Amino acid sequence: WSSMKLPSRPELFDFEGVSMVHYFTDNWEKVKNFQARPDDILIATYPKAGKSTAWNFTGKQPSILCNDAPERQTSQPIYMRVPFLESCFKVIASGTELADNLTTSPRLIKTHLPVQLVPKSFWEQNSRIVYVARNGKDNAVSYFHFDRMNMGEPEPGDWNTFLQKFIEGKKVFGPWYDHVSGWWEKKQTYSNLLYMFYEDLVEDTGREVERLCSFLGLSTSVEEREKITKGVQFDAMKQNKMTNYSTIPVMDFKISPFMRKGKVGDWKNHFTVAQNEQFDEVYKQKMKNTTVKFRTEI
Ligand code: A3P
Repeated sequence: WSSMKLPSRPELFDFEGVSMVHYFTDNWEKVKNFQARPDDILIATYPKAGKSTAWNFTGKQPSILCNDAPERQTSQPIYMRVPFLESCFKVIASGTELADNLTTSPRLIKTHLPVQLVPKSFWEQNSRIVYVARNGKDNAVSYFHFDRMNMGEPEPGDWNTFLQKFIEGKKVFGPWYDHVSGWWEKKQTYSNLLYMFYEDLVEDTGREVERLCSFLGLSTSVEEREKITKGVQFDAMKQNKMTNYSTIPVMDFKISPFMRKGKVGDWKNHFTVAQNEQFDEVYKQKMKNTTVKFRTEI
């Protein structure tokens, strides 16, 4: 990364009905034809829903997945250990290349793709998938701060401009509404999918670690689970250079840190009363056909 100069912000365009930037479509043939393995674990989220938390459940703790040696957790950045499937940033290997070259088993792979764009071999191989969803209000706030500091994202404008785009679904990886409800519907027919909520993770990390372990078929001792729970606490992850993204120059941490607040309900510090009413109104419309339920406070 060190010799890289900051790129200008990319433009948003329509890709198979979803708003995208070229970083996630340039390698599309290889993404589409990606060969999943039956023991792969795919971690899927809408951007800024808390996938780092889920990663750390699975990727950081040696006790949970023995392939990830302790020294790698503090010496190798997370984007090398957990390939970002659709990414094609040119300065590092593409997500598919990194994943193809992983010798560890099972492989952990992350994606932000809406369910309809996930490469079909994941379904064919019946790979395990963990989806993490976060309530739309906090997700929007987190995404806004991320776009401010990340030159790999389109210009966010001010908070209100950003929020209007979020509501219209004009964000990278498309509308939040379709993303969370699309994956929720998939869960009804695909049993190897664990649907988790960021709010639950923050509320009771231990309980969610247990859910995840049982989904992955891992028998862990109480002590191991406690260790994992401690390791994924916000402060621990914020300190860890390999999970706080401090090695990536396209992100300007003076504007906003990657591990920003890690709270449920921070939206209250951003939404005006009018914006909140507008959000609730649109939410009712867009989410009227889904049974997925979110908590905006805990
Ligand atoms: P905030 O911007 O609200 O702080 P992602 O990992 O999908 O990029 O999502 C990032 C969001 O998850 C950020 O939210 C970040 O602080 C939060 N997050 C990451 N790790 C966390 C943890 N261990 N506990 C609580 N929140 C966490």
